Amino acid sequence: MPNLRGPLALAITTLGTGSLLVLSACLNSNAQEAVPTRTADNFVAPATVDTAGLPGPVQPVFYRHDVHAGQYKMDCRYCHFAAETSMHAGIPSIRPTCMGCHTVIGTDNPEVERLREAASNDQPVEWVKVHRLPPFVHFPHMRHVKGAGITCQTCHGPVQEMARVYQYSSLKMGWCLDCHKKNKQTTDCTACHY
Ligand code: HEC
Ligand code: HEC
Ligand code: HEC
Ligand code: HEC
Ligand code: HEC
Repeated sequence: MPNLRGPLALAITTLGTGSLLVLSACLNSNAQEAVPTRTADNFVAPATVDTAGLPGPVQPVFYRHDVHAGQYKMDCRYCHFAAETSMHAGIPSIRPTCMGCHTVIGTDNPEVERLREAASNDQPVEWVKVHRLPPFVHFPHMRHVKGAGITCQTCHGPVQEMARVYQYSSLKMGWCLDCHKKNKQTTDCTACHY
Protein backbone atom coordinates (compact mmCIF):
# COMPACT_ATOMS: atom_id res chain seq x y z
CA MET A 1 0.00 0.00 0.00
CA PRO A 2 2.67 2.61 0.83
CA ASN A 3 4.00 2.43 -2.74
CA LEU A 4 0.61 3.75 -3.91
CA ARG A 5 1.25 7.05 -2.25
CA GLY A 6 3.38 8.50 -5.04
CA PRO A 7 0.76 8.31 -7.80
CA LEU A 8 -1.97 9.22 -5.34
CA ALA A 9 -0.10 12.35 -4.38
CA LEU A 10 -0.49 13.30 -8.00
CA ALA A 11 -4.18 12.48 -7.99
CA ILE A 12 -4.74 14.53 -4.88
CA THR A 13 -3.04 17.55 -6.42
CA THR A 14 -5.24 17.31 -9.47
CA LEU A 15 -8.43 16.73 -7.50
CA GLY A 16 -7.70 19.42 -5.04
CA THR A 17 -6.93 22.25 -7.43
CA GLY A 18 -8.50 25.40 -6.11
CA SER A 19 -9.83 23.89 -2.94
CA LEU A 20 -6.71 22.51 -1.33
CA LEU A 21 -4.69 25.31 0.09
CA VAL A 22 -1.50 23.32 0.05
CA LEU A 23 1.16 24.50 2.49
CA SER A 24 -1.02 27.17 4.00
CA ALA A 25 -2.16 24.80 6.74
CA CYS A 26 -2.85 26.97 9.72
CA LEU A 27 0.06 29.24 9.01
CA ASN A 28 -0.71 32.33 10.94
CA SER A 29 1.79 34.60 12.57
CA ASN A 30 1.59 33.84 16.20
CA ALA A 31 2.98 35.32 19.35
CA GLN A 32 2.53 32.08 21.33
CA GLU A 33 5.03 29.32 21.98
CA ALA A 34 6.02 27.78 18.69
CA VAL A 35 4.57 24.35 18.01
CA PRO A 36 5.47 23.53 14.39
CA THR A 37 2.51 24.28 12.16
CA ARG A 38 3.64 22.08 9.31
CA THR A 39 5.81 19.11 8.60
CA ALA A 40 8.81 18.83 6.27
CA ASP A 41 7.94 18.74 2.56
CA ASN A 42 9.11 15.15 2.28
CA PHE A 43 7.30 13.91 5.40
CA VAL A 44 5.91 10.42 4.89
CA ALA A 45 3.37 9.18 7.43
CA PRO A 46 4.91 6.13 9.10
CA ALA A 47 3.37 2.71 8.72
CA THR A 48 1.33 2.08 11.85
CA VAL A 49 -1.73 0.18 12.93
CA ASP A 50 -4.66 1.26 15.02
CA THR A 51 -3.78 -1.17 17.77
CA ALA A 52 -0.24 0.16 18.17
CA GLY A 53 -0.98 1.77 21.52
CA LEU A 54 -1.35 5.24 20.03
CA PRO A 55 -2.50 7.99 22.40
CA GLY A 56 -6.07 9.29 22.04
CA PRO A 57 -9.36 7.43 21.81
CA VAL A 58 -9.80 4.64 19.25
CA GLN A 59 -12.06 5.89 16.44
CA PRO A 60 -14.60 3.88 14.44
CA VAL A 61 -12.53 4.50 11.28
CA PHE A 62 -8.75 4.85 11.43
CA TYR A 63 -8.72 8.31 9.86
CA ARG A 64 -5.15 9.67 10.00
CA HIS A 65 -4.21 13.33 10.34
CA ASP A 66 -0.55 12.48 9.65
CA VAL A 67 -1.55 11.11 6.24
CA HIS A 68 -3.97 13.90 5.25
CA ALA A 69 -2.61 17.03 6.96
CA GLY A 70 1.02 15.87 7.24
CA GLN A 71 1.98 13.88 4.17
CA TYR A 72 -0.57 15.44 1.80
CA LYS A 73 -0.47 18.90 3.40
CA MET A 74 -4.22 19.41 3.49
CA ASP A 75 -5.21 22.62 5.23
CA CYS A 76 -6.90 22.11 8.59
CA ARG A 77 -9.65 24.41 7.41
CA TYR A 78 -10.46 22.26 4.39
CA CYS A 79 -12.24 20.03 6.90
CA HIS A 80 -12.67 22.19 10.00
CA PHE A 81 -13.91 25.17 8.02
CA ALA A 82 -16.10 26.54 10.81
CA ALA A 83 -13.12 27.32 13.08
CA GLU A 84 -12.82 30.86 11.76
CA THR A 85 -16.47 31.73 11.85
CA SER A 86 -18.11 29.75 14.65
CA MET A 87 -17.85 28.72 18.25
CA HIS A 88 -17.08 25.16 17.15
CA ALA A 89 -14.49 24.08 14.61
CA GLY A 90 -16.79 21.20 13.59
CA ILE A 91 -16.12 17.72 12.24
CA PRO A 92 -16.57 17.23 8.47
CA SER A 93 -19.27 14.98 7.12
CA ILE A 94 -18.39 11.90 5.08
CA ARG A 95 -20.39 13.15 2.17
CA PRO A 96 -19.31 15.35 0.50
CA THR A 97 -16.01 16.14 2.27
CA CYS A 98 -14.39 12.71 2.51
CA MET A 99 -16.08 11.10 -0.48
CA GLY A 100 -14.93 13.92 -2.73
CA CYS A 101 -11.63 12.01 -2.76
CA HIS A 102 -12.52 8.55 -1.56
CA THR A 103 -14.83 7.56 -4.36
CA VAL A 104 -11.54 7.15 -6.26
CA ILE A 105 -8.68 7.16 -3.73
CA GLY A 106 -7.75 4.20 -1.52
CA THR A 107 -10.46 1.93 -2.82
CA ASP A 108 -8.35 -1.10 -1.90
CA ASN A 109 -7.86 0.08 1.70
CA PRO A 110 -10.12 -1.72 4.23
CA GLU A 111 -10.47 1.43 6.40
CA VAL A 112 -11.53 3.45 3.38
CA GLU A 113 -13.94 0.62 2.52
CA ARG A 114 -15.67 1.16 5.89
CA LEU A 115 -16.03 4.81 5.04
CA ARG A 116 -17.51 4.01 1.64
CA GLU A 117 -19.95 1.60 3.23
CA ALA A 118 -21.11 4.24 5.72
CA ALA A 119 -21.51 6.72 2.87
CA SER A 120 -23.51 4.35 0.70
CA ASN A 121 -25.84 3.60 3.62
CA ASP A 122 -26.07 7.30 4.38
CA GLN A 123 -24.81 6.65 7.88
CA PRO A 124 -22.70 9.16 9.76
CA VAL A 125 -19.49 7.86 11.34
CA GLU A 126 -19.82 8.23 15.12
CA TRP A 127 -16.45 9.84 15.91
CA VAL A 128 -15.41 9.74 19.55
CA LYS A 129 -14.88 13.22 20.94
CA VAL A 130 -11.30 13.99 21.95
CA HIS A 131 -11.88 17.40 23.57
CA ARG A 132 -14.79 18.24 25.77
CA LEU A 133 -15.05 21.31 28.00
CA PRO A 134 -17.72 21.25 30.71
CA PRO A 135 -21.02 22.76 29.51
CA PHE A 136 -20.60 25.84 31.75
CA VAL A 137 -17.53 27.01 29.80
CA HIS A 138 -17.80 29.22 26.75
CA PHE A 139 -15.00 28.78 24.20
CA PRO A 140 -15.35 30.64 20.88
CA HIS A 141 -12.98 29.24 18.22
CA MET A 142 -13.43 32.18 15.89
CA ARG A 143 -12.17 34.71 18.43
CA HIS A 144 -8.93 32.76 18.83
CA VAL A 145 -8.35 31.63 15.24
CA LYS A 146 -9.56 34.61 13.26
CA GLY A 147 -9.52 37.33 15.89
CA ALA A 148 -6.17 36.59 17.53
CA GLY A 149 -4.51 34.55 14.75
CA ILE A 150 -3.45 31.78 17.14
CA THR A 151 -2.47 28.64 15.23
CA CYS A 152 -4.39 25.41 15.72
CA GLN A 153 -1.15 23.77 16.87
CA THR A 154 -0.64 26.21 19.75
CA CYS A 155 -3.61 24.64 21.48
CA HIS A 156 -3.93 21.24 19.78
CA GLY A 157 -0.26 20.35 19.30
CA PRO A 158 1.32 18.96 16.12
CA VAL A 159 -1.91 17.35 14.85
CA GLN A 160 -0.43 17.01 11.36
CA GLU A 161 1.96 14.41 12.75
CA MET A 162 -0.59 12.50 14.81
CA ALA A 163 -1.79 9.16 13.48
CA ARG A 164 -4.60 9.46 16.00
CA VAL A 165 -5.65 12.74 17.61
CA TYR A 166 -5.15 13.11 21.33
CA GLN A 167 -5.70 15.96 23.78
CA TYR A 168 -2.46 17.94 23.85
CA SER A 169 -3.31 20.79 26.27
CA SER A 170 -4.82 20.41 29.72
CA LEU A 171 -7.91 22.51 28.88
CA LYS A 172 -7.94 23.51 32.53
CA MET A 173 -9.00 26.97 33.63
CA GLY A 174 -5.38 27.80 34.50
CA TRP A 175 -4.33 27.04 30.94
CA CYS A 176 -6.88 29.51 29.55
CA LEU A 177 -5.98 32.14 32.13
CA ASP A 178 -2.21 31.84 31.61
CA CYS A 179 -2.52 32.73 27.97
CA HIS A 180 -5.12 35.42 28.58
CA LYS A 181 -2.88 37.10 31.15
CA LYS A 182 0.19 36.81 28.95
CA ASN A 183 -1.72 38.50 26.13
CA LYS A 184 -3.57 41.03 28.29
CA GLN A 185 -6.94 39.46 27.53
CA THR A 186 -9.97 39.13 29.72
CA THR A 187 -9.93 37.21 33.01
CA ASP A 188 -13.49 38.25 33.79
CA CYS A 189 -15.43 35.22 35.05
CA THR A 190 -18.43 36.02 32.89
CA ALA A 191 -16.40 35.99 29.65
CA CYS A 192 -15.92 32.24 29.99
CA HIS A 193 -18.78 31.29 32.30
CA TYR A 194 -22.43 32.10 31.91
C1 HEC B 1 -9.52 15.50 5.60
C2 HEC B 1 -10.19 16.16 6.69
C3 HEC B 1 -9.41 16.69 7.86
C4 HEC B 1 -8.30 17.52 7.86
C5 HEC B 1 -7.56 18.07 6.66
C6 HEC B 1 -8.00 17.80 9.24
N1 HEC B 1 -8.88 17.15 10.05
FE1 HEC B 1 -8.97 17.26 12.07
N2 HEC B 1 -10.45 15.84 12.10
C7 HEC B 1 -11.03 15.26 10.99
C8 HEC B 1 -11.94 14.20 11.42
C9 HEC B 1 -12.76 13.30 10.51
C10 HEC B 1 -11.89 14.17 12.83
C11 HEC B 1 -12.66 13.24 13.77
C12 HEC B 1 -11.90 11.93 13.94
C13 HEC B 1 -10.69 12.05 14.79
O1 HEC B 1 -10.77 12.56 15.92
O2 HEC B 1 -9.59 11.65 14.32
C14 HEC B 1 -10.94 15.21 13.24
C15 HEC B 1 -10.61 15.52 14.55
C16 HEC B 1 -9.80 16.58 14.93
C17 HEC B 1 -9.59 17.02 16.30
C18 HEC B 1 -10.20 16.38 17.54
C19 HEC B 1 -11.66 16.76 17.65
C20 HEC B 1 -12.29 16.32 18.96
O3 HEC B 1 -13.01 15.32 18.94
O4 HEC B 1 -12.03 16.96 19.98
C21 HEC B 1 -8.75 18.09 16.26
C22 HEC B 1 -8.25 18.91 17.43
C23 HEC B 1 -8.41 18.31 14.87
N3 HEC B 1 -9.07 17.39 14.10
C24 HEC B 1 -7.54 19.29 14.43
C25 HEC B 1 -7.05 19.37 13.13
C26 HEC B 1 -5.93 20.20 12.74
C27 HEC B 1 -5.17 21.11 13.67
C28 HEC B 1 -5.74 19.98 11.40
C29 HEC B 1 -4.64 20.55 10.53
C30 HEC B 1 -3.28 20.29 10.98
C31 HEC B 1 -6.76 19.04 10.96
N4 HEC B 1 -7.51 18.68 12.04
C32 HEC B 1 -6.95 18.61 9.65
C33 HEC B 1 -10.79 15.63 9.68
C34 HEC B 1 -9.76 16.45 9.25
C1 HEC C 1 -6.87 28.94 21.89
C2 HEC C 1 -6.89 27.50 21.76
C3 HEC C 1 -7.43 26.86 20.50
C4 HEC C 1 -7.12 27.15 19.19
C5 HEC C 1 -6.22 28.23 18.65
C6 HEC C 1 -7.84 26.19 18.39
N1 HEC C 1 -8.57 25.36 19.18
FE1 HEC C 1 -9.72 23.80 18.60
N2 HEC C 1 -10.38 23.51 20.51
C7 HEC C 1 -9.92 24.22 21.60
C8 HEC C 1 -10.70 23.84 22.77
C9 HEC C 1 -10.55 24.41 24.17
C10 HEC C 1 -11.63 22.87 22.33
C11 HEC C 1 -12.73 22.18 23.15
C12 HEC C 1 -14.01 22.96 22.93
C13 HEC C 1 -15.22 22.42 23.63
O1 HEC C 1 -15.19 21.32 24.18
O2 HEC C 1 -16.25 23.15 23.61
C14 HEC C 1 -11.38 22.66 20.90
C15 HEC C 1 -12.07 21.78 20.10
C16 HEC C 1 -11.77 21.54 18.76
C17 HEC C 1 -12.40 20.54 17.92
C18 HEC C 1 -13.53 19.59 18.36
C19 HEC C 1 -14.84 20.04 17.76
C20 HEC C 1 -15.28 21.37 18.27
O3 HEC C 1 -15.42 22.28 17.46
O4 HEC C 1 -15.44 21.52 19.50
C21 HEC C 1 -11.83 20.61 16.68
C22 HEC C 1 -12.17 19.79 15.45
C23 HEC C 1 -10.85 21.67 16.73
N3 HEC C 1 -10.85 22.22 18.01
C24 HEC C 1 -10.07 22.05 15.66
C25 HEC C 1 -9.30 23.22 15.62
C26 HEC C 1 -8.64 23.74 14.43
C27 HEC C 1 -8.65 23.09 13.06
C28 HEC C 1 -8.03 24.90 14.80
C29 HEC C 1 -7.27 25.87 13.91
C30 HEC C 1 -7.98 26.36 12.73
C31 HEC C 1 -8.28 25.09 16.23
N4 HEC C 1 -9.07 24.06 16.68
C32 HEC C 1 -7.78 26.14 17.00
C33 HEC C 1 -8.91 25.13 21.61
C34 HEC C 1 -8.35 25.72 20.49
C1 HEC D 1 -8.12 15.65 -0.86
C2 HEC D 1 -8.34 14.22 -0.89
C3 HEC D 1 -8.77 13.52 0.39
C4 HEC D 1 -9.81 13.86 1.23
C5 HEC D 1 -10.76 15.04 1.13
C6 HEC D 1 -9.87 12.82 2.23
N1 HEC D 1 -8.88 11.89 2.01
FE1 HEC D 1 -8.56 10.19 3.11
N2 HEC D 1 -6.91 9.77 1.98
C7 HEC D 1 -6.46 10.52 0.92
C8 HEC D 1 -5.20 9.95 0.42
C9 HEC D 1 -4.37 10.45 -0.74
C10 HEC D 1 -4.94 8.82 1.25
C11 HEC D 1 -3.76 7.86 1.17
C12 HEC D 1 -4.17 6.64 0.38
C13 HEC D 1 -3.10 5.60 0.35
O1 HEC D 1 -1.97 5.86 0.71
O2 HEC D 1 -3.43 4.47 -0.03
C14 HEC D 1 -6.04 8.73 2.20
C15 HEC D 1 -6.17 7.71 3.13
C16 HEC D 1 -7.26 7.55 3.97
C17 HEC D 1 -7.49 6.42 4.85
C18 HEC D 1 -6.57 5.22 5.00
C19 HEC D 1 -5.56 5.54 6.08
C20 HEC D 1 -4.19 5.16 5.74
O3 HEC D 1 -3.64 4.37 6.50
O4 HEC D 1 -3.64 5.61 4.72
C21 HEC D 1 -8.66 6.66 5.53
C22 HEC D 1 -9.34 5.76 6.55
C23 HEC D 1 -9.15 7.94 5.09
N3 HEC D 1 -8.30 8.46 4.14
C24 HEC D 1 -10.29 8.56 5.58
C25 HEC D 1 -10.73 9.83 5.22
C26 HEC D 1 -11.81 10.55 5.87
C27 HEC D 1 -12.61 10.04 7.05
C28 HEC D 1 -11.94 11.73 5.23
C29 HEC D 1 -12.89 12.85 5.55
C30 HEC D 1 -12.85 13.37 6.91
C31 HEC D 1 -10.94 11.77 4.18
N4 HEC D 1 -10.21 10.60 4.22
C32 HEC D 1 -10.79 12.81 3.27
C33 HEC D 1 -7.09 11.63 0.37
C34 HEC D 1 -8.19 12.29 0.90
C1 HEC E 1 -2.90 30.53 23.49
C2 HEC E 1 -3.63 31.61 24.08
C3 HEC E 1 -5.06 31.41 24.53
C4 HEC E 1 -5.60 30.31 25.16
C5 HEC E 1 -4.91 29.02 25.53
C6 HEC E 1 -6.98 30.64 25.40
N1 HEC E 1 -7.27 31.87 24.94
FE1 HEC E 1 -9.10 32.80 24.98
N2 HEC E 1 -8.35 34.39 23.99
C7 HEC E 1 -7.04 34.55 23.64
C8 HEC E 1 -6.88 35.82 22.95
C9 HEC E 1 -5.58 36.39 22.39
C10 HEC E 1 -8.18 36.41 22.90
C11 HEC E 1 -8.59 37.74 22.25
C12 HEC E 1 -9.19 37.44 20.90
C13 HEC E 1 -9.51 38.67 20.08
O1 HEC E 1 -8.62 39.52 19.94
O2 HEC E 1 -10.62 38.77 19.58
C14 HEC E 1 -9.07 35.48 23.56
C15 HEC E 1 -10.43 35.70 23.72
C16 HEC E 1 -11.30 34.86 24.40
C17 HEC E 1 -12.71 35.11 24.63
C18 HEC E 1 -13.48 36.35 24.19
C19 HEC E 1 -13.37 37.33 25.31
C20 HEC E 1 -14.19 38.58 25.08
O3 HEC E 1 -13.62 39.65 25.27
O4 HEC E 1 -15.35 38.46 24.71
C21 HEC E 1 -13.20 34.05 25.36
C22 HEC E 1 -14.61 33.86 25.86
C23 HEC E 1 -12.09 33.13 25.57
N3 HEC E 1 -10.97 33.65 24.98
C24 HEC E 1 -12.20 31.94 26.26
C25 HEC E 1 -11.15 31.04 26.43
C26 HEC E 1 -11.27 29.78 27.13
C27 HEC E 1 -12.53 29.27 27.79
C28 HEC E 1 -10.06 29.17 27.05
C29 HEC E 1 -9.63 27.83 27.59
C30 HEC E 1 -10.51 26.70 27.35
C31 HEC E 1 -9.18 30.06 26.30
N4 HEC E 1 -9.87 31.18 25.95
C32 HEC E 1 -7.86 29.77 26.02
C33 HEC E 1 -6.00 33.66 23.85
C34 HEC E 1 -6.13 32.40 24.41
C1 HEC F 1 -10.47 32.36 30.16
C2 HEC F 1 -11.56 31.53 30.58
C3 HEC F 1 -11.96 31.46 32.02
C4 HEC F 1 -12.11 32.50 32.90
C5 HEC F 1 -11.86 33.98 32.66
C6 HEC F 1 -12.58 31.93 34.13
N1 HEC F 1 -12.71 30.56 33.99
FE1 HEC F 1 -13.41 29.28 35.44
N2 HEC F 1 -13.11 27.70 34.17
C7 HEC F 1 -12.61 27.79 32.90
C8 HEC F 1 -12.50 26.45 32.35
C9 HEC F 1 -11.99 26.09 30.95
C10 HEC F 1 -12.98 25.56 33.34
C11 HEC F 1 -13.13 24.02 33.21
C12 HEC F 1 -11.82 23.32 33.39
C13 HEC F 1 -11.41 23.27 34.81
O1 HEC F 1 -12.21 22.83 35.66
O2 HEC F 1 -10.27 23.70 35.10
C14 HEC F 1 -13.35 26.38 34.49
C15 HEC F 1 -13.86 25.87 35.67
C16 HEC F 1 -14.30 26.66 36.72
C17 HEC F 1 -14.92 26.13 37.93
C18 HEC F 1 -15.18 24.68 38.21
C19 HEC F 1 -13.93 24.07 38.81
C20 HEC F 1 -14.11 22.60 39.11
O3 HEC F 1 -13.22 22.07 39.75
O4 HEC F 1 -15.10 22.01 38.70
C21 HEC F 1 -15.20 27.20 38.72
C22 HEC F 1 -15.88 27.17 40.07
C23 HEC F 1 -14.75 28.39 38.02
N3 HEC F 1 -14.20 28.02 36.82
C24 HEC F 1 -14.85 29.69 38.51
C25 HEC F 1 -14.34 30.81 37.89
C26 HEC F 1 -14.35 32.15 38.50
C27 HEC F 1 -14.92 32.50 39.86
C28 HEC F 1 -13.75 32.99 37.59
C29 HEC F 1 -13.46 34.47 37.74
C30 HEC F 1 -12.59 34.81 38.85
C31 HEC F 1 -13.41 32.17 36.42
N4 HEC F 1 -13.78 30.87 36.67
C32 HEC F 1 -12.84 32.68 35.26
C33 HEC F 1 -12.29 28.95 32.20
C34 HEC F 1 -12.32 30.23 32.73
